[in-house]
Amino acid sequence: MTDLYAVMGNPIHHSKSPQIHTQFAEQSKQDLVYSAMLVPVDGFKNAVTNFFKGKGQGLNITVPFKEEAFKLADQLTERAQTAQAVNTLMLQEDGSILGDNTDGAGLVGDLTLNNQVNLKGKRILVIGAGGAVRGILHPFLKQGPESITIANRTFEKAQVLAENFNEFGPIEAAEFDQLNTPFDVIINGTSASLSGDIPPISTDVIGADTVVYDMMYAKQPTNFLVWAQLNGAKKAIDGLGMLVGQAAVSFELWRGQRPDSGIVLDAMRKQLQAL
Ligand code: ATR
Repeated sequence: MTDLYAVMGNPIHHSKSPQIHTQFAEQSKQDLVYSAMLVPVDGFKNAVTNFFKGKGQGLNITVPFKEEAFKLADQLTERAQTAQAVNTLMLQEDGSILGDNTDGAGLVGDLTLNNQVNLKGKRILVIGAGGAVRGILHPFLKQGPESITIANRTFEKAQVLAENFNEFGPIEAAEFDQLNTPFDVIINGTSASLSGDIPPISTDVIGADTVVYDMMYAKQPTNFLVWAQLNGAKKAIDGLGMLVGQAAVSFELWRGQRPDSGIVLDAMRKQLQAL
């Protein structure tokens, strides 16, 4: 019997998840159909209930429903609990719904597997303190970094996150103008790249060995990545691999099989560049 999977969001037409999961399914010869579902902003709970009443086995959840999915899930993984947001739902054998958040694991996988950037013992700077950053902190701390510094335009939000996560490892908040030494890894988790902006941080954070990652991606490198490269970063990586990576972790949760995300990432990159 063909199992059904989908991504729910609003808007949803831009989603690349159906393409990614369809490639995963072909690669691993799994009998499933994955579609994109536009859900009315006030109709999320109904849509999820109806989906799982039918042949639906699993969902990805995107903007603006990740917090609602967090509240709706019957059980949560530890990383979803700490993220306070859910991007993956899974119907379990007893009929209950498990909520997971695979965004952070997707980013960690892109860094460690696709780019051979080990996070253990590293000094990491995370810029931003919104939902996207909340989703990655637990998986990052699990990698055993020397420290994570969170810097955000609104400093208080960085402080709250540091307090929320310090039980999982060494994490502190900093003001932008306190950042004046090189980090090993810098993650831009702000939405600044959407408008072409660059967070106002000193170029002193970049050293010859610094790896810089922007959670956003576009056909051309984001302004933040261009800035990093111009200022001597060893490597500048965009968030396309995180997108494919989070999908791979969801797929593995649902189907018990880890797809080869590298092949799919190459295909998605070629497609993005051909646009
Ligand atoms: P998301 O779910 O994508 O994380 P969000 O929760 O709205 O979205 O968070 C956006 C993040 O980007 C915040 O950290 C925001 O900083 P503030 O907390 O000060 O609002 C940050 N951000 C957005 N535009 C920015 C810009 N132009 N420069 C620096 N930071 C920016």
